[in-house]
Amino acid sequence: MSSASSTASHFMPFAATKIAAGVDSLYYFLLVASFISCVLVIGGLIWFAVQYRRKYEGQKTAYISHNTALEFLWSFIPFVIFMVVFVWGWIVYYQLRSMPENGLEVAVTAQKWNWTFTYKNGRKSQGTLTVPIGQDVKLIMTSSDVLHSFYVPAFRNKQDVVPGRYTALWFRAEHEGSYNLFCAEYCGDQHSGMLGKVNVVSREKFDEYLGTEPYKGLTPVEIGQKVYGGACIACHGLTVNDVKPLKLGPTFYMLFGRKESLADGSTVDVDEDYLRESIVNPNAKVVKGYDAGVMPTYAGQLDEDEIMGLIEFIKTVK
Ligand code: CUA
Repeated sequence: MSSASSTASHFMPFAATKIAAGVDSLYYFLLVASFISCVLVIGGLIWFAVQYRRKYEGQKTAYISHNTALEFLWSFIPFVIFMVVFVWGWIVYYQLRSMPENGLEVAVTAQKWNWTFTYKNGRKSQGTLTVPIGQDVKLIMTSSDVLHSFYVPAFRNKQDVVPGRYTALWFRAEHEGSYNLFCAEYCGDQHSGMLGKVNVVSREKFDEYLGTEPYKGLTPVEIGQKVYGGACIACHGLTVNDVKPLKLGPTFYMLFGRKESLADGSTVDVDEDYLRESIVNPNAKVVKGYDAGVMPTYAGQLDEDEIMGLIEFIKTVK
C-alpha cells in the first residue's frame, strides 16, 4: 500500500492518477507565472514611484505620449501566456471529461449522508469504493435526495451528483492506497460527515473482493459495525456525548433496552423490532427532540443480514 495517500502535505495532496499530475503541472505553472507577474508589476510600481518621485519644488516630469514597441510587448507576452493557459487547461479538462469506452463501470448512489457503490455483479458497498490499479473506472452517479458532489482530492476530480439524472466521472488510479472521498456540495447539516474511501488495490485483490461475499466469515456484530461505518456514522454517535447538536440522530450508546420518549408523547421499548422499524421506516416513531423526515429510509438499501447485523452491533454499544 502506498503510504503517500495518508501523508499530510502543506501543498497539493498526493497525486494518484496521471491526470492529477497534469492538473498539478498546470497549477504550478499558473502559480509561478502569477508570482513572476506580481513581482514585475509591484516591483516596477515601487521602483518607478521611488525613481521618478518629485525631488524638488517645481520639478517637471518628462512628457511621453507612447511607445509602440513597449505597448506591443506588454500586450503580446500576456496574450501568449493566456493562450498557453487556455490550451493547456482545455487539454487537461478534455482528458478529465472524455469517458473511457471499456472502463469498469460502477453505479454510485448518493444519499444524505452516505455513498452506496453497486458493481455489475450486484455487489454493493456502503462508504467504500474498491477499484483495481491501472484500470479506467467510470462512475455513473445519481442521488436519491438532494445535490451532492463526488470529490477525491488525490484524483483531482470532482463531479456533482444530481437527483433525477445521471452524471459521470472517470479516473485511472496508478498508485495503490486508500484515498479520501468527500462530498463537495453542501447537502444538509451532516454534509461534512458525508465521507468515504476509495481503495485502490491490485488486480488480484480486486477480483477477490468482487467475487467474495462482502460479509464472508463475519459475525453479525462485525457486519453491523461495517454497515454503521458506511451508513449511520454521519448522524449517530456511539458515546454519551454524541447528542444534539453534534449529531442529527440519537446516539447508539446504551440505546438497546432503553425506554425512549417519542415526539407524540408516548414511549417505546427499544427492542429489535423497534430498531428494525426505525431503519426501514424512520418516520414511524420519531424520538422526542428530533425532527421527522431527517433520516432517509434504508429499505432496499440494506439487506436483511445488514439490518440484523446493525441491530446486533447497536446492542454492543454500551
Ligand atoms: Cu452530500 Cu454534501
